[in-house]
Amino acid sequence: MKILTIIGARPQFIKAAALSETLRARGHEEWLVHTGQHYDANMSDVFFTELGIPAPNVNLHVGSGSHGAATAAMLEGIEKECLAQKPDWLLVYGDTNSTLAGALAAAKLHIPVAHVEAGLRSFNKAMPEEVNRVLTDHISNLLFCPTQHSADNLSKEGIREGVHVVGDIMHDCLLRALPRAEALPSLPAELGLKNDEYHLATIHRASNTDDPVILRGLLEALHEIGNVVFPMHPRCRARIDSAGLSGLLNDGRIQTLEPVGYLHMLQLAKNARAILTDSGGLQKEAYWLHTPCITLREETEWVETAQSGWNQIVGVGREAILKAMSELARPAEHPDYYGTGDAAAKICDAL
Ligand code: UD1
Ligand code: UDP
Repeated sequence: MKILTIIGARPQFIKAAALSETLRARGHEEWLVHTGQHYDANMSDVFFTELGIPAPNVNLHVGSGSHGAATAAMLEGIEKECLAQKPDWLLVYGDTNSTLAGALAAAKLHIPVAHVEAGLRSFNKAMPEEVNRVLTDHISNLLFCPTQHSADNLSKEGIREGVHVVGDIMHDCLLRALPRAEALPSLPAELGLKNDEYHLATIHRASNTDDPVILRGLLEALHEIGNVVFPMHPRCRARIDSAGLSGLLNDGRIQTLEPVGYLHMLQLAKNARAILTDSGGLQKEAYWLHTPCITLREETEWVETAQSGWNQIVGVGREAILKAMSELARPAEHPDYYGTGDAAAKICDAL
């Protein structure tokens, strides 16, 4: 079986790490196309090196651009790859512009599409990711859902064929990588952070970075909380600079870092007192690592983390964030909502 896999953004490298290994171990041929959506060494190369992801067969070097321009350039490049490679399946992950471009290029060529992380919904169409994931699901032939809840979302939209609840591929990756992360020298210790005392923050959603008033409010809340370590997505770094907000980062209450590799991120997440984030992946990693999470958005796709009490969905208001900090909990209940780490095997079986 020949699979053409599309990756392009940081979380997709992490997801591909687990599945590429399993696909290849079973003797399938994979043609790996990197769209180039993320391109800085610490947003891309580091994951290939650390996680042993095979080098992409092709990098389309699409880079940053408007949604239309970037997605169009990806479409054109992916279409050429599909025509040349004639794969049995085209496989996409998640909800980025790379995901939609891959699914659309293949669907028009009648190449079956497999979508890993299908059925997630925020029900907020202002998010580019929501548009990408809804459209991708509706042109996919195999839909790999992390949870029954995500399969139910698909069912409500009339998608019932080809739906498989397989668990979360990021859980596979975390379980495989955690022993390696724990064997490395401790980044938190190197940074002078005390376990269970510091707070880990990440911000990269367009709705949070691109409005200077919201971004200022978030930084002020983090500043007030203090003892924050903040590996900064380049989008967030650029917006802080252009909005003139870097003064809030100068007095040591918020320690900023360049984006870190996955193994260091696992160390930071596991040992934090709490995680404050608008990341999708990090909300689940917080859950798996038993670290309380505060989500800096109005809604979450990962509803189970919130229902269990491990994740508080607070939005971007200062009062709500500080209130959540005063109510941090580590509930006794911690169900295996996202499977047991065998999503890659189940996906290969279904393919
Ligand atoms: C993208 C995804 C988002 C995902 C996130 C993971 C879309 C619409 N968004 O958001 O769903 O959660 O990736 O991190 O696909 N930049 C760099 N260097 C890089 C990459 C980005 O400097 O290597 C900067 C550029 O200024 C760029 C900006 O970040 O314009 C945004 O990058 P882009 O890929 O468009 O969106 P993300 O915010 O990364
Ligand atoms: N991550 C990382 N280094 C960082 C920030 C995040 O390795 O500096 C990892 C994080 O642990 C998770 C993934 O990147 O596995 C999430 O990516 P991101 O937050 O960029 O995207 P999202 O999940 O929101 O789409």
